[in-house]
Amino acid sequence: MKILFCTSEAWPLIKTGGLADVCGSLPKALHALGEDVRLVLPAYPEVLERCVGLTSLCELTLTGADAPVEILAGHLSGSDIVLYLVNSPQHFRRPGNPYVREDGRDWPDNAQRFALFARAIVELAQDRAQAGWAPDLVHCNDWQTGLVPALLTREAPRPATLFSIHNLSYQGLFPATTFQQLKLPKALWSMHALEFHGKLSFIKGGIACADQLSTVSPTYAQEIQGSAFGCGLEGLLQYRADDLTGILNGIDTDTWNPATDPFIEQRYDVHSLHRKATNKAALQRDHGLAQDTRPLLLGHIGRLVEQKGVDLILDMLDKLFQHPVQLVVLGSGDLALENRLREAAACYPQQLSVHIGYNEQLAHRIEAGADCLLMPSRYEPCGLNQLYSLAYGTVPIVHRTGGLADSVVDLTPVTARTYSATGFSFDKDTPQTILETCLRALDYYAQPNRIDWWKLIITGMKKDFSWPASAARYQALYREMCGEETDQPRKLG
Ligand code: ADP
Ligand code: GLC
Repeated sequence: MKILFCTSEAWPLIKTGGLADVCGSLPKALHALGEDVRLVLPAYPEVLERCVGLTSLCELTLTGADAPVEILAGHLSGSDIVLYLVNSPQHFRRPGNPYVREDGRDWPDNAQRFALFARAIVELAQDRAQAGWAPDLVHCNDWQTGLVPALLTREAPRPATLFSIHNLSYQGLFPATTFQQLKLPKALWSMHALEFHGKLSFIKGGIACADQLSTVSPTYAQEIQGSAFGCGLEGLLQYRADDLTGILNGIDTDTWNPATDPFIEQRYDVHSLHRKATNKAALQRDHGLAQDTRPLLLGHIGRLVEQKGVDLILDMLDKLFQHPVQLVVLGSGDLALENRLREAAACYPQQLSVHIGYNEQLAHRIEAGADCLLMPSRYEPCGLNQLYSLAYGTVPIVHRTGGLADSVVDLTPVTARTYSATGFSFDKDTPQTILETCLRALDYYAQPNRIDWWKLIITGMKKDFSWPASAARYQALYREMCGEETDQPRKLG
């Protein structure tokens, strides 16, 4: 099948979070399964710098651009996957983050930028961009590509459309006047398409208009149909429940593998786990924490936003640090949270080390060096860090929600006895329950005989969260959508 995979970020070209990890690695896994997957991204400066051998396919005259928009063609680094870039300097050639300015506020023309991106994708999808290639299916990801399925409903014939929700809280909501400014087809201003409580909603274009929907874990697929996590779209998602599939993300084992990781102090695998201790000592040494095997070393990595629950961690630190526990935090985002973290680090220099910023290498070193990874996310569509930590023998401590619920098995007397436990999880996202769960992990870790702890680690490391199984689910869904035979069950969970 020919699949046009549309995304606003893909690692290693441009990344702000897990969307990039998935959109950089799922196409590779689908390609390995024999599919002709091609990726389309905006031509941000970082992407142009990192791509070599780009050629110009064509220039398109698109509504919303003062100058012709160039479509460039090349390959995704480290693979033979064809990459198309939408090159409109007016919209994409600017420094920094793809979505926000340096002060953390959205680029004021985000609606114009991603509407233009969508219009260029439609030209590629309809084979009007000199690519000589007409996809059978267009796979869109998150609100930045939400207008694509909506615009494609206006074309006939057209490819099938799949819209994947990676995070329902980011919706691409704009005032109604923006709808007119973008000169979108009038028929799309409807509660059955782009209109959402009098506003223009990009994500609704995907959810209402795509032929099929998916999200990144079976539990999140259920959760978004309820009012607690549905972000106002739960009614529409219930209505489309038969078209909604939850497929757990996979991990790129070329990048996240403790046996080959170039960033970590000492490489290891399940047969040489004793070497993990060197990574713990290195993490303690590099971050001014006492080099001692006795304290439980926790790690936390993530965007500093309400979703990730770092405020809940901060609220229980005074009690947590009465115990032999250390914590390394890596993140950036909300300025108030950054400041609170810095203040806490000043209070607990022996036990807390905080790194504000984005640091790929440190993320790997925390995954390898910590004993446990703390993810108290209020909601988590899938979450990748807990999957990385399972692969690195770093025991996840997680809130039982979304993909965290689907990937971590809580330690209970039964799961301990049957060797099925892989971590610690809790139901209520409160500082108290997080504290209690960390102390539960500490107790287990501190047992005189650490054999049970090793067993917990090994069970997690042996879990296979690599892409092939999940990519096969996408492949089955594509086949079903394109009317081809499949023997894979589509519904998960
Ligand atoms: P989300 O997409 O909601 O941010 P995920 O867990 O799916 O959450 O993915 C986050 C990805 O971003 C992971 O690869 C993680 O290692 C990475 N990441 C997040 N914050 C940082 C940071 N400050 N430095 C380096 N990597 C980070
Ligand atoms: C989103 C979600 C995260 C998920 C990622 C990739 O950013 O917040 O849970 O893992 O997308 O699908």
